[in-house]
Amino acid sequence: MSVSTLLKVVAIGHLMGLVLSSTIERRLNGTLGRTPHMGWSSWNVAQCDAASERYAMDTAHKFIDLGLKDLGYTYVNIDDCWSTKQRDGSGNLVADPNKWPRGIPAVVNDLHNMGLKFGLYGCAGEKTCASFPGSWGHEVQDAQLLASWGVDFWKHDNCFTPCPVNPPPQTCPDTGVDTRPWYGKMRDAIQSVAGTKEILFNLCNWGRNEVWTWGAEYGHSWRMEVDNWGDWASVVRIGATASRIAEFSGPGGFNDLDMLFVGNGVLTEPQERVHFGLWAIAKSPLVIGADLNKIPASSLKILRNKDLIDINQDELGIAASIFQPPNAPAPVRGQIYPYWAGQLSDGVVLAFVAASSGGGKFSVNFADVPGLKKGVYRWKEVYSGQEGTGEAVSFNVAKDDIAIFKATST
Ligand code: GAL
Repeated sequence: MSVSTLLKVVAIGHLMGLVLSSTIERRLNGTLGRTPHMGWSSWNVAQCDAASERYAMDTAHKFIDLGLKDLGYTYVNIDDCWSTKQRDGSGNLVADPNKWPRGIPAVVNDLHNMGLKFGLYGCAGEKTCASFPGSWGHEVQDAQLLASWGVDFWKHDNCFTPCPVNPPPQTCPDTGVDTRPWYGKMRDAIQSVAGTKEILFNLCNWGRNEVWTWGAEYGHSWRMEVDNWGDWASVVRIGATASRIAEFSGPGGFNDLDMLFVGNGVLTEPQERVHFGLWAIAKSPLVIGADLNKIPASSLKILRNKDLIDINQDELGIAASIFQPPNAPAPVRGQIYPYWAGQLSDGVVLAFVAASSGGGKFSVNFADVPGLKKGVYRWKEVYSGQEGTGEAVSFNVAKDDIAIFKATST
């Protein structure tokens, strides 16, 4: 699809978004997930080793001490490896007593008293990706347990699921297998306990079966790609895919670009700006994946950028997408296109991304930006704080860096 056609369908897409949102209101609680969720998850920090009470409580205290809670980071989510390897005699999941000496309800209670939320991870298949018990055949029982513990968030992974290969391997090599029925089962289980506890439901099927086209009927957010492995290539791959499917995000259902790798010492500072900036304007959940005891000040500054968080949390929930200004080259699949824009309730977000294209001076007339007409606008670049007014904006952006503007009427 050409960019101009893509832009024409964006408006229709947003109308569709409204339809999808009303669908989700019927299927899941309509007040949850109206904007992308913000928080932290254990997986990118230390995989299985971080699935513990110590990390959860430590993160919760850091959320308060570092001002992250006040900025909207509230979900403390524990990923794979939190349970024992076997269910108990009644078939219930059991929190590993070595990792959760006080048990999960006590931790949930502490977090709730701090004004925070607690999330857990499970899997649609027989086992989780790290071979802990999955929810296959136990969906309602697991949802009831989560509700009784007061858990606020559930991520549902896609390992050891039924597959033409028998027994199911960790990851089914047949990407054509329809993952929908498994996510429908867990959605209905979560729905069945909603009277006791409302749970934000995150689908993690790695973008299979074009999940963005149906995810809003099943959950509040859906992983649209395979993992963010923490390298620059992952940021480019996921960002490029996100730019093609922006129209499927909307209040109540968002493309999830995956947990962040800002602050883990793998990306350069400019690359961390691109990573966080793209996730924020694409309306992805913003889930920190770093150890907050060790995070560098420069990374924390990026994660605490209030202007970007406000853009991410804008009530319209419209994800920014790419547009092609006159004389700009055509987008190339798999690369990050330099020009992005998205409607906000009080203006437009515009970004110049100097990734695949190389660095240099980028310029646009506001008249060429989707959502704006010819005229004078006030702009602010959110990372540098630089401001200006005019009918156009020009900015130098170094390779693998980004400039993100909020443009508002004068
Ligand atoms: C993967 C998933 C990751 C993480 C991991 C845990 O399938 O995409 O986000 O949850 O499993 O084993």
